[in-house]
Parts: sequence; C-alpha cells; structure tokens
Amino acid sequence: MNIAEIEASHFFQTYKRLKIEIDRGEGPYLIAKDGSRYLDMFGGIAVNALGYNHPKVNSAIDAQVRRYLHVSNLFYQDTQIELAQLLLKASGFSKLFFTNSGTEAIEGALKLARKWGKPQGKENIFGLTDSFHGRTFGSMSITGREKYREGYEPFLPETSILKFNDVDDLEKNINTKTLAVVLEFIQGEGGIKLVTPQYIELLERLRSKFGFIVIADEIQSGLGRTGKLFAFQHFNFEPDIAVVAKAIGGGLPLGAFIGKERLSGVFTPGVHGTTFGGNPVACAAGLATVGEILHGGVMQNVVEMGSYLFGKLEQLKMEFPDCVLEVRGKGLMVGLELKFDGAEFIERMMARHVLLNLTNSTVVRWLPPLNIGKSHIDEAVHAVATALAETRQNRETG
Ligand SMILES: Cc1ncc(COP(=O)(O)O)c(C=O)c1O
Repeated sequence: MNIAEIEASHFFQTYKRLKIEIDRGEGPYLIAKDGSRYLDMFGGIAVNALGYNHPKVNSAIDAQVRRYLHVSNLFYQDTQIELAQLLLKASGFSKLFFTNSGTEAIEGALKLARKWGKPQGKENIFGLTDSFHGRTFGSMSITGREKYREGYEPFLPETSILKFNDVDDLEKNINTKTLAVVLEFIQGEGGIKLVTPQYIELLERLRSKFGFIVIADEIQSGLGRTGKLFAFQHFNFEPDIAVVAKAIGGGLPLGAFIGKERLSGVFTPGVHGTTFGGNPVACAAGLATVGEILHGGVMQNVVEMGSYLFGKLEQLKMEFPDCVLEVRGKGLMVGLELKFDGAEFIERMMARHVLLNLTNSTVVRWLPPLNIGKSHIDEAVHAVATALAETRQNRETG
C-alpha cells in the first residue's frame, strides 16, 4: 500500500490531504521525501509565522526541553509568565489564560463572558454568517458557515447567527439580554472578508448602550499577520476579549484568551482549567516567535511585503479581468477571489511547486510566513500568472 492508501485505511476521513509526503521544512519551503521543494504560501494555515526551522524558535525549544516538558498548572512557570508579560504589555489587555488550541480559547472566552453576564441576566451570544471559530460545540454554536454545523445540532442554547456586515440585523437583535458578540474583524475561512467601519461603529454604539461583551477572534488574523498586532486595531475598536492561537506557539499547540481589566475578577480558582494549556515548551517557542514578531522587525516586514504582494495581485487582476474578481485583505492575510471554482487552479499551482490554499471555493488564500522576502513573493506571483494564463487558455479551448 502507498501512504495515501494506508492513511485512508487508518484514519477517519476528515481531511483531503495534499499529495505530498513531507520530509522537512526550510524557511518558506517544504521539502518532500522525493527531494522536490515547494514554496509554502499558507504556512500551516497561519501557524508558521516565521517559516520552518527558525533557529531562534528551535533553540528556545531545545533549551526548554532540557529543563522540563511539563509540570501542570499548579506551579509557577517562568516561560508562561514571560510570554504573558510580552503579550499583555504589547496589547494593553489585563489578564490572560493559555490553552492548547484556538477552539479551546474560544470556549474559555465564552465561559468568561457567561460567568460575567449571568448575574446581570445577560444570555444571548451572537456569531456572524460566514465566520469560523472552531470545532467544539461552543465554537460551532457561533460559527456561521453551514458546512461546519450541519448534522451537529443541537447547539448551545441562547446562541444565534447574525448577518455579517448587516447593520439592520445587528440593531434589531441587540438588547439588554445580549451577552456577547463574537467576530473575526477579517474573516479567514469565510474568504478574507473585512468587517465594514459602519458595522463596527454601530457595534461600538450598541455596546455603550447595552454593555455586552465583544470577543474578537484573532486566531488567524492576530499577532502581526495583518501588519498590526491585532486585526481589530485597523478598525479603531477595543474588544473586551481577544482570542489568539495558531502563530502564538511558533508551530507548537498553544492558544490564549486575553481580557480587559473589567473582566479581571470574574474567574476564581477552580472555575476553569486545563492540563496541557500553556505547556512550557510551547510557551518557550511562543516567546521566541512573538518576540521576533514584535521586536525583530517582522511586523514592519508584514506591512512592506503585504503592500508589495497586494500591488502584484492587483496587477494580475488587471491582466486577467476574466479570471480575477477581487483582491482583499490586510498585510499578509490576502485573498485573491477568482471568478470560478479555484480547485483546478490550486492543482496547477502545486504542479508549479507553490502551495496556496482555497477557501470558500473561489478565494485563493495567502498566509505566507511573516518574514517572507520579495524574491519569494515574486516566485509565487510569477507562478500564479502562468497558472492563470493556462487556466484562461483551458477555459477558452475547453
Ligand atoms: C478564525 C479562527 N477561529 C478559530 C479557529 C479554530 O482554531 P483551532 O483549529 O486551533 O481549534 C480557526 C482555525 O482555523 C480560525 O481560523
């Protein structure tokens, strides 16, 4: 049996895997077992912020591995504390809790919101259409994309979905019973869609009036990806809770929910917890990664390379008006929307050894390492131009 057949016989079939058997990674490249090199422009779906095999991340992991791998959250641990200090100082938030994953961080944020709101009679939690917040039941309850929900009902009571960017729907549904609104300021899985300034203005106005909690899901868009620490900073808005994961662990499983001062006293010992969340090796990797993003010039690189990539893709849009509908995004979180299903295009890109990810069937998603250089962007964009020319020709003749 080949590896695909073995996988099919052993695993619940939840993933459509790319037909590459990975040997190792180097910077923005993945190297397959047959020696071929792929330029990876979606880096572990926004996890590999510094690319593969980053020396600072590796040596931070090595050093922590030699000290201890795990001691449980009943002990004070310096790596956890240093990472917390770095994040809180940079973000202006007051308190955090470390988890293993994005969805656990969302669950924790929902629990924090509920503990805060229940005594005040606040119950209703809203997510938005096209959003994605994770695979556990709380996260699914506020996820707006039907394909992730179908067949898993019933969800958490008092949760429902509002229409993304629809101010009337927001105004109509928010009231004194509202506990929380959860949103991605730039939707990832939903196809790199930005919330509108008008929607955020209304959200702010309604929050002042009714006093509910806004939870920003920054799992994909956070930690420098969009050229700011958080995507919500592009919208001049301060959520009450920010949720991060993916990039924070530098490739190891780590997430966090981070709350504002007014929520500091809500949790007390024993009301929430985790065995592995905040694992010291993951925190050491996170410290090296977030340190590099914040203080190693990486976020500046995102701003520069983001605008370089955006410009190049806009040029492609002009060259291929029959293929490209729109270019959207901020920093290095960019969507190139095609005018047709992109599955074949992604295959063509793979044949050219450039890995891109498709979301929402027509949106080619770019989530390259944040320390990417111009030459890599040029390499990828050149391959896109060739693949689009091929696609166009194919569509004309076929
Ligand atoms: C915006 C957003 N929220 C939540 C999640 C869930 O994170 P995890 O897969 O780590 O549970 C993801 C994962 O893709 C995401 O992109």
